[in-house]
Amino acid sequence: MGKDAKKRIQQLRKEIREHDYLYYVLNQPKISDRQYDKLFAELKELEQANPQFVTPDSPTQRVSERPLEGFATVRHAVPMLSMDNTYNAEELRAFDERVRKQLAPAGNKQGEDYDYVVELKIDGLAISLRYENGELVTAATRGDGEVGDDVTANVRTIKAVPLVLLGDGKIPDVLEVRGEVYMPTTAFVELNRLRVEVGEPVFANPRNAAAGSLKLLDARITAERNLSFFAYATGELSQPLAGNHYQTLQKFKKLGLPVNSNIKRAKNIDEVINICLKWTEKQPKLNYHIDGMVIKINRFDQRDILGATGRAPRWCISYKFPAERAETIVESIDVQVGKSGILTPVANLTPVQLSGTTVKRASLHNFDELARLDVGVGDTVVIEKAGEIIPQVIEVKTKAAVNVPFEIPTTCPSCGSVVAKDEEGVYIRCSNPDCLGQLKERLKYFAGRGQMDIENLGDALIEQLVDTGLVKNFADLYKLQKSQLIELERMAEKSAGNVIDSIEKSKTQPLWRLLAALGIRHIGGQSAQILAEHFGSLKALMAADVETFEAIDQIGPTMAESVYEYFRNPKNRAVIDELLAEGVKPKQPKMKRSDKLLGKTIVVTGTLERFSRQEAEQAIRQAGGKASSSVSSKTDFVLAGKEAGSKLDKAQKLGVKVINEKQFLDMLGKGPS
Ligand code: IVH
Repeated sequence: MGKDAKKRIQQLRKEIREHDYLYYVLNQPKISDRQYDKLFAELKELEQANPQFVTPDSPTQRVSERPLEGFATVRHAVPMLSMDNTYNAEELRAFDERVRKQLAPAGNKQGEDYDYVVELKIDGLAISLRYENGELVTAATRGDGEVGDDVTANVRTIKAVPLVLLGDGKIPDVLEVRGEVYMPTTAFVELNRLRVEVGEPVFANPRNAAAGSLKLLDARITAERNLSFFAYATGELSQPLAGNHYQTLQKFKKLGLPVNSNIKRAKNIDEVINICLKWTEKQPKLNYHIDGMVIKINRFDQRDILGATGRAPRWCISYKFPAERAETIVESIDVQVGKSGILTPVANLTPVQLSGTTVKRASLHNFDELARLDVGVGDTVVIEKAGEIIPQVIEVKTKAAVNVPFEIPTTCPSCGSVVAKDEEGVYIRCSNPDCLGQLKERLKYFAGRGQMDIENLGDALIEQLVDTGLVKNFADLYKLQKSQLIELERMAEKSAGNVIDSIEKSKTQPLWRLLAALGIRHIGGQSAQILAEHFGSLKALMAADVETFEAIDQIGPTMAESVYEYFRNPKNRAVIDELLAEGVKPKQPKMKRSDKLLGKTIVVTGTLERFSRQEAEQAIRQAGGKASSSVSSKTDFVLAGKEAGSKLDKAQKLGVKVINEKQFLDMLGKGPS
């Protein structure tokens, strides 16, 4: 068995790597995601049953379980230089002139022939991957160019980065690959949407999101961030890969390294300029952010002649796209408290036009960023709209004549209680549970469109309701009387009636909306829907233990812990009891649940035709059963698909009943279809 398992494991790894290559490098997947998941599940299972065969280069071993204590540093074998910039065609021509002169042997006016490779300048962060004997051993950030952070554990989670290189054995013993880790725009937008939902500050742009995601000490979170990678250069090499850059990139592809598909050769600077201008127009169509183009001399012997200045090579230059920016003055800096207590500095600006809108405020993200930029009141700043998102302050253009230093708040701007940096050391948080500023934000969120959707209950009204002491928690909203509202500013008989009506209407919003509206950390609309569907009622949800939450597909350990803790808090439970007492009666989701497998413990093994393993396990849970991963005498059934391995053997040894997929469907009452 051991020998067979080992063979199959090796075969599966090979297949999975080939499919990764087809998907990430060639962009031509040959199998469906579902089929891929099946291969992956089979490999995982075989490895679980035969842990002696698990090796770090297995596709299953991208994420390690333990968060890092901190990052070690790595000295780059070959320094990672930076690049000089150009901003227009003239500057590009001047660069070409310098190249021509330096490549011309004395007295040879014509000089040598040379050509360029023109690439997109991916707006992510530079990474050096070190492969030894074809295996990824280290991944490091650029750092100061000489020494970077060891981010191997995080980079291993990026599926586009091969853990072992493909090839026919002709791989240099040492091969350092340099490239850019980036976050695709769709992943960035989705990440920020989720962060808004759970009340966490958004990332200003995909580059910050990629950098933030790569520098997490817990690689399990990095793994959820959908980062990707393009290779574009080499560092240390034990043997040359090719004679020029273009061939090197082709070689990269053969080794399974993803190379951007828009790379072009150019015979002269006119062609270079054309390509750059074309991409200035086309750039918004890409699903990743680029901030310009990179122009590189193709031949390595010519690069050697050109050499480098202290900080940048003379054989390459970037062409930066003009960004939509504007200059304005910081009139004041406010500190806002969010619904989870995070304090955010916000700059109030002299209104200015930028990409078709008037900008009056710009986020400064957090206090570290504010200190880094050294922004003060009265300063003239450059603001930029990053990919149609919130405007942000990029840099200080001129400091104000009189410097008013901005003091980092030590107390909450709303409740005055002492604030502190949170666990991650980035955000300053007010942890006063009775902070009215937080309460206002929580109520605004509760009533918001994605949650209870209470029409007519706007921000200004919520502020008044809190300031007058009429509302101290979510339940108080449902105790409001029309007569109380009429007393408030800008409230007439009719509008007060409308507010009461819409609050009344919200009582029967679906369960998931209520769940999302509570503002439980890490639980946004999507996870609220999963929870609502799984439990069916608030009562069942409140009674569940943390393991039950963890066992739900798509509910990660952080979310599980967070919901569980939320419902353990007596204050939260009291508010929920009050909500129910006030007549809030969330609509139950249409349950897909049954009790056909109630109380049964079932182990799924092997490859099924109709289900992935996860799907089969979900079906078991939805029918009231328990899906387990190991066979014991307590197991009621083993559902065995094709090529079932050790679990099937064990079931037979223990005399546990084994069923096939058809029998399983019959049990679920789904019969043949
Ligand atoms: S080549 C000596 N190629 O731009 C420079 N860099 O501003 C070797 N970048 O740190 C790098 N796309 O992070 C190169 N196609 C590309 C690139 C690229 C983005 C980044 C890289 C570098 C920065 C310099």
